[in-house]
Amino acid sequence: MRIRDLAIDPRVIQLLEEEGLDQLYPPQEDAVKAGILDGKNLVLASPTASGKTLVAELCILKHVLERNGKVIYLAPLRALASEKYREFQRYSSIKKPNGERLHIGISTGDFDSIDPWLGRNDVILSTNEKADSLLRHKAPWMSELSLVVADEVHLLTEHARGPTLEVVLTRLNEINPKIQVLALSATVSNAQEVGEWLHAGSVTTEWRPVPLREGIYHEGQVQFSDGTSRVIEGLTNSPVLDIALDVVGAGGQALVFTETRRSAVEMGRKAALALKGRLSKPEERSLALLSERVLSSGEKTSLSEALAGQVLTGAAFHHAGLTGVHRETVEDSFRSGKVKILAATPTLAAGVNLPARTVVISSYERYEAGFGRYPITVLEYKQFCGRAGRPRYDKFGESLLIARNADEAEWLMENYIIAKPEKLWSKLAVEKVLRPHVLSTVAAGYARTEEGLYEFFSRTLYAHQYGPRLIKGKIGDILRFLCNEEMVLMEGKELVATKFGKRVSELYIDPESAVTLRDGLYNRAKRLTDFSLLHLIAKTPDLAPRPRPRGKETESLGLLAVQHGGEFTFDVPEEFEDPMAYEEFLSELKAAQVLEDWIEEHTEDEILEARKVEPGDLLRLVQGSEWLVFAAQELAKLFGHKDLLPPLGVLRVRVSKGVKPELVKLVGLEGVGRVRARMLFASGLKTIEDIKERSLTELTSISTIGPALAKRIKEKAGGLIKADEWERAKSAKASEVEQQVMLTDYEDTE
Ligand SMILES: Nc1ncnc2c1ncn2[C@@H]1O[C@H](COP(=O)(O)OP(=O)(O)OP(=O)(O)O)[C@@H](O)[C@H]1O
Ligand SMILES: [Mg+2]
Repeated sequence: MRIRDLAIDPRVIQLLEEEGLDQLYPPQEDAVKAGILDGKNLVLASPTASGKTLVAELCILKHVLERNGKVIYLAPLRALASEKYREFQRYSSIKKPNGERLHIGISTGDFDSIDPWLGRNDVILSTNEKADSLLRHKAPWMSELSLVVADEVHLLTEHARGPTLEVVLTRLNEINPKIQVLALSATVSNAQEVGEWLHAGSVTTEWRPVPLREGIYHEGQVQFSDGTSRVIEGLTNSPVLDIALDVVGAGGQALVFTETRRSAVEMGRKAALALKGRLSKPEERSLALLSERVLSSGEKTSLSEALAGQVLTGAAFHHAGLTGVHRETVEDSFRSGKVKILAATPTLAAGVNLPARTVVISSYERYEAGFGRYPITVLEYKQFCGRAGRPRYDKFGESLLIARNADEAEWLMENYIIAKPEKLWSKLAVEKVLRPHVLSTVAAGYARTEEGLYEFFSRTLYAHQYGPRLIKGKIGDILRFLCNEEMVLMEGKELVATKFGKRVSELYIDPESAVTLRDGLYNRAKRLTDFSLLHLIAKTPDLAPRPRPRGKETESLGLLAVQHGGEFTFDVPEEFEDPMAYEEFLSELKAAQVLEDWIEEHTEDEILEARKVEPGDLLRLVQGSEWLVFAAQELAKLFGHKDLLPPLGVLRVRVSKGVKPELVKLVGLEGVGRVRARMLFASGLKTIEDIKERSLTELTSISTIGPALAKRIKEKAGGLIKADEWERAKSAKASEVEQQVMLTDYEDTE
């Protein structure tokens, strides 16, 4: 089927043809034949890069240009929502029938905001969590939606985040009974069942734009499932490296999935050594620049130095311990072909568009504390394979497992290569996960009686798969908890959320966390300090998973507990009476300790060395804590703890920016993060007043502050800038290039 034969606005056809598209890919044709342009619901399960986005786009444009519709596009990750937002911009010049251009909006941030401007858009990109929070706030436009696109819908089966998507889809269907649903995924084996739940048809295809060969390496040879084989030269003592070098030798790139972060770094290090001297001079020069970029963006830590070192010879690692800037740099340089071998943990397999000719799965096992080792799921394996083969660059992609012996090779063939991915199963009925959704259903008025509550949950995927009875018992237990804690009142048959319940639902925190915060603020402590509050935040289940104390730390954390005796808002558990609770307490203590380091202006590298917490994890801890301090502030207001508002207010800024109290005002200025604020302070610019009064030239004398930034800072401080002062500042710095480097992730946040 040709694009030009589609029953869609000719301007869309023209735009797509100008982009060089002519024929629909087979899965796209199947989707059109299944009626997506006529408003039919569909679950489309089709391999990576088989063009699912275009299916969504056609459907979206049909709604917006021809049906006066409104669309929400749900993505599991912020990065993915932003990627789609950028891609969709190309349609924004097309005018709607009313003469206005098409409006595309994105909202992935603040969970306590209704973002009123969002409703003006025709297409809204959002993460699943943000969509859930908008539903809790009852954003009015949510009931005007005519199409929901759920991307990467296999997320439904994930323990922590699947249930949010499940509840969002159930609720959108409930408030918009006519809404069209388009669910997309590369790996669903029970698309039909998920389709039945969504009242949707299903299309499953195995078509790929670049053919995939799946194979197993054993003793110097790769055996592919299509019967072909290839000999791999043994250059090192690692099969994974041998394969990667073979691919690079043939002009390709290799993506190696490793089990742990540490093994990703180690594999990258070995790959860097093995690649030395294999690349051309121009390639080496561009890698040297890349390496410098790694060092100059973000804070310098031993982790970023390791990365910069590997990049020099064309290797890199990628894992969640890296901060955003570094991850993006790695992704960009792999995409552009500069980095030849990339060792990554599985986080990369989810979402990020990063194809490679060859994917090597260095281990098919995972280790999890408490569970031991277990093999990865077929679904995960297929997700890894999905990254193999770069459209337009490679004739084929290949994905390889490593077998230690012939037996294992056979086992891998049977259990992964020819196996079908597991079915998607709902994970909604876990109490911790279900609790906030039960509260929000009552608090936002989506159910007004116990019956209504059961009825809502009887429409979820969980009830579809397991029957409604199982979940009913769980809901009953949760309702009792919510009533006991006075978040919900039962008046006869009626369920009403209290102010507390409503606020907790809107704040998007676990009701259990809210109880901890409420009780902690009420209990106080003998001596209530910032550390008390940090520990209180760390104690909430919302902060989990917390950084784990390492072996030797147990003792020092025990000492820390003694030092801070009298500052805890809850009784400290006895080590010998209740060892489990004590262990939990130590992990809370460690989180509080890391946060304290952070607000005492320890560098990322110091925190990495002393506490073994990597920058990416530190950032997540900081963001989670900032939100919880905000939640504590809101609950303190609600429960009348006026005296706690000022310390919580200061603490919130300190946690968010990582500064001591004296810098709290300065970091409030746009473009001033912890590093610049400290420099300003050290040069005697200690208050907003100081900045207002000093000349621009004095500001620009501070490193990393150029005239433009100086002007912005001074203006924000309320200072007046005369024309000649501006000229002077510019010419004083004219010979220097204004440094626009981001000092840290936290700097320059506008
Ligand atoms: N009909 C077509 N003709 C040529 N190229 C196409 C066509 N449809 C899509 N493409 C291109 O294919 C590429 C991959 O498509 P897309 O991102 O939609 O994959 P996907 O199916 O969503 O995969 P994933 O599961 O990884 O998200 C895009 O670069 C897109 O421009
Ligand atoms: Mg996609």
